[in-house]
Amino acid sequence: MQSGSLTVVGTGIRFTQMTMESQEAIKTAGKVLYLVADPLSAAWIRELNPTAESLHLFYEDGKDRGITYKQMVDRILDEVRKGQEVCAAFYGHPGIFVNPSHEAIKLAREEGFTANMLAAVSAEDCLFADLGIDPSVDGCQTFEATDFLVFKRQFDTTSSLIIWQIGCVGDLTFNPHPSDPSGINVLVDYLLEHYSPSHPAILYQSNVLPICKPIIRYLTLAEIREATINQITTLYIYPKARRPVDEKHLSKLGLVQKVFA
Ligand SMILES: C[S@@+](CC[C@H](N)C(=O)[O-])C[C@H]1O[C@@H](n2cnc3c(N)ncnc32)[C@H](O)[C@@H]1O
Repeated sequence: MQSGSLTVVGTGIRFTQMTMESQEAIKTAGKVLYLVADPLSAAWIRELNPTAESLHLFYEDGKDRGITYKQMVDRILDEVRKGQEVCAAFYGHPGIFVNPSHEAIKLAREEGFTANMLAAVSAEDCLFADLGIDPSVDGCQTFEATDFLVFKRQFDTTSSLIIWQIGCVGDLTFNPHPSDPSGINVLVDYLLEHYSPSHPAILYQSNVLPICKPIIRYLTLAEIREATINQITTLYIYPKARRPVDEKHLSKLGLVQKVFA
């Protein structure tokens, strides 16, 4: 192994969710690079390690996100190749809906460096807590909004459905203030092929500051077209009525006598 290493950590959705092991990795790194969504997390990272440098400068309005992500990976790898013990910190869970974290680890390993990722609290973890939803009941499916449409993903309407990044559906650039509703309308059109317009859903935003409360808007699928949506909005769609039990599987599992509500 070459000298130089990479540890990728997550900071949680708010800085108070940063795990002890993530804080330790940030504190002991020779160089920290970070991408977070709120000023308190940024301040806490800089407090833990004065070498900390934000990757946010690579974002520009209208710039293709693929180019931005590649520049972030290059910046992280620059430091690893210098022989630094690098910690790259991303908000939420660093491996969930984060392209440069996975790419940086892959590249670092290909070049012979030690690279690993530590788990953290994601937006979906906060959603389960704030909405009181347990994915073990009815199951749960997670999709990225543009991917969901482009690949016409197949899903089970009797399970929960969570759709991420609805604030930039169909837009591959960085756009902090989305105003064009055409992507949202395509998403709602596809959902209405599977659900009724009055089917219940939630637009969810976890609070990024500990003193605030989450924003939870209950609405119907049809109402999503007119709703205010931003870059941190996640869509939750309730499951339809539960499907009947499968007698064959019940019998194979020896559960015939049990009652499933
Ligand atoms: C680039 S991804 C980053 C996800 C992050 N790594 C995580 O683990 O939660 C951005 C998407 O995550 C979701 N998200 C991020 N912050 C959120 C928040 N505060 N509340 C709800 N969803 C959020 C939204 O769907 C948003 O479009």
